[in-house]
Amino acid sequence: MQRLCLHGNKPLHGEFNVSGSKNAALPILAATILLPGMTKIRNIPNLLDIITIIRVLRALGLRAEYSLSEPNTVTVWNQQVRHVAPYELVTKMRASFFVIGPILAVKGLAKIPLPGGCAIGSRPVDIHIKGMEGLGAKVHLEHGFVIAEAKKLKGNSILLDFPSVGATESVMMAATLAEGETIIENAAKEPEIVDLANFLIKAGAKIEGAGTEKIRISGVTRLSAVEYSIIPDRIEAGTAIAAAAITRGHVLVKGLKLAHLDAIIKKFQESGVKLNLTDNSVEVLAENGFQAVDIKTMPYPGFPTDMQPQLAAFLTLAKGTSVVSETIFENRFMHMHELKRLGADIKLEGQSAIINGVAKLSGAPVKVSDLRAGAALLVAGLAAEGETLLEDRDHHIGRGYENIIDKFAALGADICRVKPDVQTVN
Ligand code: UD1
Repeated sequence: MQRLCLHGNKPLHGEFNVSGSKNAALPILAATILLPGMTKIRNIPNLLDIITIIRVLRALGLRAEYSLSEPNTVTVWNQQVRHVAPYELVTKMRASFFVIGPILAVKGLAKIPLPGGCAIGSRPVDIHIKGMEGLGAKVHLEHGFVIAEAKKLKGNSILLDFPSVGATESVMMAATLAEGETIIENAAKEPEIVDLANFLIKAGAKIEGAGTEKIRISGVTRLSAVEYSIIPDRIEAGTAIAAAAITRGHVLVKGLKLAHLDAIIKKFQESGVKLNLTDNSVEVLAENGFQAVDIKTMPYPGFPTDMQPQLAAFLTLAKGTSVVSETIFENRFMHMHELKRLGADIKLEGQSAIINGVAKLSGAPVKVSDLRAGAALLVAGLAAEGETLLEDRDHHIGRGYENIIDKFAALGADICRVKPDVQTVN
């Protein structure tokens, strides 16, 4: 259990350095299963989800650890791979399931627990499974495990029912070592897919079209260990912009990739927040008020579902009425109930939230239900008058944000941990 205490309603000032992308790092670490030898990956954020995937790799027989001498660097030594992923870790973090593709490609057999339910929706893995079947694997369910078998995967044309990020990644990883050519149609186009493809290409894979809806992969017989650096975290960058804007602060958010933040930037601009942009930074100058805007979450390049809660928090203080529609996950509005506890005026209608901007938020105890809900409550708490106590029972915020408390405190936020939160991997 972690508790954070905030005394809000203070403009943030200063510089915010964006960490490496969690959602790029997770599949890239999973992909090291495909690479015999020693792989070194830089710009890995130090956070709980990364620790979980490192534990998955270790359980699979690889050696993986954060470097003691180089910050944010993880080294993986891959000499042998086991085919069974541990129940406790896969059920703890859905992205652990993404190891199914690389394990199957390397071992011809993968036994991975079903990830199970999660706070923001049911999140099945049927598209991953169909992808493995498309590559010639026989897949069945037994005692809660997905068991996939194929002596040798065979390239094929695979049309995804939905541009699932994880399924695109599973199939892309598996197809790198398949016989012949694989074409993934209706592929996800997120920057994290491109980063994974670039990593695999550096390791010797033949991949074209990542970042478009059609990815072509020509199977090779082996991949080799490499050194690689992860892209910046666009969601962390967006969260920092939201925090600066809602507190009417002046913050330079640095070390991001502007091209990845297009949809997010447009919404802040539409709401009247002044932003000075360069290719790798956003200066937020938010002394004045801001207007309501509507958002609808969509696969990339649309507005990311992972920024919906933080933007909703920001819009609670906008002038006018905003409509926030969630199309990716069926149950991603839990933060709305907690935002109401802070004084927000929000009505839920199916998959939409109607937010009538209020003049102020007032601090209250709130509960964190999932990672981005936690980020939204943090953003709102920074703007709320008085004390906000965030109860983060399952350490959701630490799952996805590196040093976020220290980073916001360095911008002048009055924020502290009520109970220490110490976890290390080494
Ligand atoms: C990834 C991100 C997550 C983000 C999500 C959507 C990582 C580690 N996580 O999750 O932060 O919120 O993309 O941008 O990168 N679906 C199915 N069947 C499947 C797979 C997905 O029905 O086999 C559904 C999901 O339930 C969800 C939608 O498709 O409603 C999108 O899921 P997906 O793109 O797969 O998300 P993840 O890869 O799990």
